[in-house]
Amino acid sequence: MYCKKLSVPVVLLLVVALVLTACGPAATEVPATEPAAEEPAAEEPAAEEPAAEEPAAEEPAKDAVEVFSWWTGGGEAAGLEAMIAVFNEQYPDIEFINATVAGGAGTNARAVLATRLQAGDAPDSWQGHAGQELIGTYVAADQIEPLNDLYEANGWLDVMPETLIPLISDEGNIYSVPVNIHRANVLWYNPEILAANNIEVPGTLEDWFTAMDALQEAGVLPLAMGEQWTAMHLFETIMLASLGAESYNGLWDGTTDWASPEVTAALEAFDKVLTYTNSDATSLSWQDASQLVVEGDAAFNVMGDWAEGYFRELGKAPETGYGWAAVPGTDGNFQFLSDSFVLAANAPHPEAALAWLTVAGSKEGQDSFNPVKGSIPARSDGDRELYGVYLQSAMDDWASDTVVGSLTHGVVANDSWKSEIDTALGLYLGTRDVAAFQTALVDACASSGACQ
Ligand code: GAL
Repeated sequence: MYCKKLSVPVVLLLVVALVLTACGPAATEVPATEPAAEEPAAEEPAAEEPAAEEPAAEEPAKDAVEVFSWWTGGGEAAGLEAMIAVFNEQYPDIEFINATVAGGAGTNARAVLATRLQAGDAPDSWQGHAGQELIGTYVAADQIEPLNDLYEANGWLDVMPETLIPLISDEGNIYSVPVNIHRANVLWYNPEILAANNIEVPGTLEDWFTAMDALQEAGVLPLAMGEQWTAMHLFETIMLASLGAESYNGLWDGTTDWASPEVTAALEAFDKVLTYTNSDATSLSWQDASQLVVEGDAAFNVMGDWAEGYFRELGKAPETGYGWAAVPGTDGNFQFLSDSFVLAANAPHPEAALAWLTVAGSKEGQDSFNPVKGSIPARSDGDRELYGVYLQSAMDDWASDTVVGSLTHGVVANDSWKSEIDTALGLYLGTRDVAAFQTALVDACASSGACQ
């Protein structure tokens, strides 16, 4: 398998090379063209030509598929590798080009992707979140193809959750293949630290504040946080905790007034939560921050359940090495997001891309990916036995809880609204001026969101 983190210029060269190889020479030549992009091998065509002819005579041309994601880091890459292994087994004649750009929540990757799309250099398939990120961005810009035929051929409408289909559809067309369901509102904790400080797992924001006061007094970092997107992640869970599901949903459909006193109270709760976090948050990735908990350097971390994949990769055991609960005040609510893969309009390798999407939507693909990634399958027929104790609890909660969408991970707001919120959040994290933050959020809703 060909697996490499690709820089944009390398990707450009590679895509050109792939388009050329698709017209004739053997695909075993595909990797061979990649070093050429690094060394100035283009100056030595004579050395390449004989090699291009020989294997072509023996082997049929090998197709390729370039799949773009941000799953490079702890826990994330391993899940993707597991699904690639299924792909390689089922499609040995298609080269899998693993185009990943590092950075949690796709903060870097999505910028690179936008540049590539603008330049007409789309990867065959890329990771996109079900919801507004997909519909408000890629569908709105005609960058992806409908997949209704693939759904029909595979009977996916019978196995994909009904709640998900509207979030990946527009005007009767279905635009992506969801591989998982992640939960955003998870409170991870260090069981030993809580026990040593006589602290029960908090169920309400008030209990949580009391617990974190005690931890702070005992000289323990109460809450680990990382770079800015993890602050937005924390923000959305506290908005849910403080507002409740109905008013939280109302933020995104215009029925909750961003200027209201209940939003002020939620922002004040968020402001208080931040007083328990580490001062070096901006320099920590999500893995760094969640690792503080399992290494005994912090009591709590709020992070999506991809953290569970990471904890297991670090060799930690559920319940003893790490514990979990719904973020205080959000029990009974499942704040969800779903990673899905799309088919690029004008994909360089449409057939191979459909093969990849077929694996991504299959039971085998999802049951190999999700137990490692720390998510539950999007399909409703996943094999429960393959999943650990945390993920089994997530399956139960997904089936019984009130489901609400994530802001940070693309469900509830389109890119322009989310980016205005992000700008407001960044300013606020510097000033900690709650009133100004609220005004900026009101403005963001008016200019890009549901209050228009
Ligand atoms: C989310 C994505 C997850 C996980 C996380 C951290 O946006 O949906 O699968 O990758 O970012 O990088």
